[in-house]
Amino acid sequence: MARDLEEQLVKYLTDAHAMEVQALAQMRAAPRIAGDAKLADAFSAHLAETERHEQLVRERLDAHGASPSRLEDLLGALSGKGFVLFARFNPDTPGKLATHAFSYEHLELATYDLLERVAQRAHDEETARVARTIRAEEDQMSRRLSALWDVSAAASGEDVGAYLADAHALEAQSVELLKRGRKIAGETELARLFEEHLAESEEHKRLIEARGETSRLKDAALRLGALNWGGFFASQRDTPAKLAAFAYAFEHLEIAGYEHLRRLGDPEATALADRILPEERAAAEKLYAAFEPALNASLDAVVSA
Ligand SMILES: [Fe+2]
Ligand SMILES: [Fe+2]
Ligand SMILES: [Fe+2]
Repeated sequence: MARDLEEQLVKYLTDAHAMEVQALAQMRAAPRIAGDAKLADAFSAHLAETERHEQLVRERLDAHGASPSRLEDLLGALSGKGFVLFARFNPDTPGKLATHAFSYEHLELATYDLLERVAQRAHDEETARVARTIRAEEDQMSRRLSALWDVSAAASGEDVGAYLADAHALEAQSVELLKRGRKIAGETELARLFEEHLAESEEHKRLIEARGETSRLKDAALRLGALNWGGFFASQRDTPAKLAAFAYAFEHLEIAGYEHLRRLGDPEATALADRILPEERAAAEKLYAAFEPALNASLDAVVSA
């Protein structure tokens, strides 16, 4: 029914808006953590873009008679959503900042990708056009960041052990995400992808354990242990599309982490990162290809024909 689809479109717009509100806070804080002028400039440029994204999405919500409340964005609408997990990473070095931002840009890219598809189904050409425009700028920002890995790795001053420990903690979280996601995805291509990458992630975790110092690996795991997958999945249960988008962003967290690890001048660490990176990239690409079927499954579940 058209009204169900309209409701879904407003939901996707509301999520995009809440995501931009959080992005604004991140972009304002980022130049102070960047530790390098080029990296700081990339964030400043994207701050202006992000301000425009927030406004454009707000206008589309207005057009649908659904104005967002600022407070709701900051408190209610955020709770349990994927980007709350991002807020907990709390980047405090240039390397972590670039890693976090690279992943967040992919969460945004995925969100606008899905929004455009939902808008097209609802025959809302203007929202589809806005989504496409913003998506291109999120993509551009992620490319700015990936062109600066050398800079963010050098500015961080963190050693191989620190990156190994973070990578290990991420792989452990990835294993959790994939195990739970596999159940939610049901009998779908998405579930098969999760299964496949679960086996790879467990192997990555073992490879890092063979290299890292146990005590540092444990510390990093504790720091990230606050990620609440339970709350996340409780709110995402009926949306394979959002699960695919979030997993896609998570892969980019790992990709950026390994991109830094391979640039620290430690041949063994570089070899390890080069062994793992292609599998992370392939997993991300396959997840992206699964957006369309995942969205179809999500909409079929709530939109009656
Ligand atoms: Fe944005
Ligand atoms: Fe962005
Ligand atoms: Fe991964």
